[in-house]
Amino acid sequence: MALSLPLALAALVAARLLLSGAAEARVLLTLDDFGAVGDGIANDTQAFLDAWSAACTSNEQAVLAVPPGKAYRIWPVQLSGPCKKKLKLMISGTIVAPASPDEWAGRDPMKWLYIYGVDDLSVSGGGTIDGMGQEWWASTCKRKKTQPCYAGPRPKAVHFEECRGVSVQGVTLQNGQQFHLTFTRCSDVKASFLRVIAPADSPNTDGIHLNDSSHVRIMDNLISTGDDCVSMVGNCSDVRVKDISCGPGHGISIGSLGKNRSTDMVENVKVDTCLLTNTTNGVRIKSWQGGMGFARNLRFESIVMKNVSNPIIIDQYYCDQPTPCANQFQA
Ligand SMILES: *[C@@H]1O[C@H](CO)[C@@H](O)[C@H](O)[C@H]1NC(C)=O
Ligand SMILES: *[C@@H]1O[C@H](CO)[C@@H](O)[C@H](O)[C@H]1NC(C)=O
Ligand SMILES: *[C@@H]1O[C@H](CO)[C@@H](O)[C@H](O)[C@H]1NC(C)=O
Ligand SMILES: *[C@@H]1O[C@H](CO)[C@@H](O)[C@H](O)[C@H]1NC(C)=O
Ligand SMILES: *[C@@H]1O[C@H](CO)[C@@H](O)[C@H](O)[C@H]1NC(C)=O
Ligand SMILES: *[C@@H]1O[C@H](CO)[C@@H](O)[C@H](O)[C@H]1NC(C)=O
Repeated sequence: MALSLPLALAALVAARLLLSGAAEARVLLTLDDFGAVGDGIANDTQAFLDAWSAACTSNEQAVLAVPPGKAYRIWPVQLSGPCKKKLKLMISGTIVAPASPDEWAGRDPMKWLYIYGVDDLSVSGGGTIDGMGQEWWASTCKRKKTQPCYAGPRPKAVHFEECRGVSVQGVTLQNGQQFHLTFTRCSDVKASFLRVIAPADSPNTDGIHLNDSSHVRIMDNLISTGDDCVSMVGNCSDVRVKDISCGPGHGISIGSLGKNRSTDMVENVKVDTCLLTNTTNGVRIKSWQGGMGFARNLRFESIVMKNVSNPIIIDQYYCDQPTPCANQFQA
């Protein structure tokens, strides 16, 4: 496939080639090269999309940098792969969402930074991804019991779908509109050295969420949010969760599984060396009645809990809906 970049851009790419002996050449691109302002106010979405597209189609391995000391306001985007070569997204500055849910008018309300179909992407850099979720939380029923309230879908802050070989390491994710970092139908994933921070009363702000994913390592993270620190649903397998500091929040959760009579199969999960503080739950497995599948070969060990209301919960009658769930037990 030919690389089709504008000439000026091609020159820029050539100028940034970092040749290192016989090793593979790399190219460094920054958001600012594509006209981003980085003042936290201007709309840097197009610059981000252009930078992604240049990095993703580069013939050399690219490093796409979000420069430090600046904040880039990004509207909902889809970043698609697969890319030509391995790609590193180095977030050293801040990526910030528009504050108002109104900015999602006419767009998918479930997505902010949606990354589809990428292989071999690493995200690092020590910077911050800020979902600015305050207005979204304020409008939900779980927080505000008065009517009218907004109970509709909210964006997952950083959502990978259909990915392989993705790592997200050493960044801060904060104030997600809903889940902070999620992987759906992904394999060979690593999420480590992360700080995930949202207020204890922010609704459904899970830290790291897996759906239908396998070969995942979630390690060395500090997670303090309003919902599960780590949760997994669907068909997840070969998941290692280790060295996690969790709390406040709702603990570490497998499920809910089998909702609406679905088939979910979770196996080979090991959770160890975790410190849970001020969480409502510790470790939890929950399934709905009527579902099919299994949750097997799960190990939880070396978990220290301090001020945890429900340390261990295995609930096979889970029912999180306004109307009661009829008992489906048959002798
Ligand atoms: C910001 O830029 C993106 C990409 O060009 C566009 O889709 C979005 O509507 C812009 N937002 C506003 C408020 O102009
Ligand atoms: C899991 O992913 C599937 C799509 O693969 C989706 O239909 C389902 O709603 C997701 N489950 C959750 C709890 O997000
Ligand atoms: C899990 O696998 C089963 C059997 O292959 C399938 O029916 C079900 O839809 C899968 N669940 C998800 C969430 O992908
Ligand atoms: C439950 O599954 C049925 C049949 O697949 C579907 O028609 C219905 O919309 C689902 N309900 C929910 C709440 O997902
Ligand atoms: C226990 O955790 C709750 C939050 O879940 C907090 O409000 C409370 O102050 C904590 N108590 C102690 C003694 O730390
Ligand atoms: C737990 O709650 C207590 C009391 O509110 C607080 O002093 C302590 O800092 C909390 N610990 C964590 C890790 O949040």
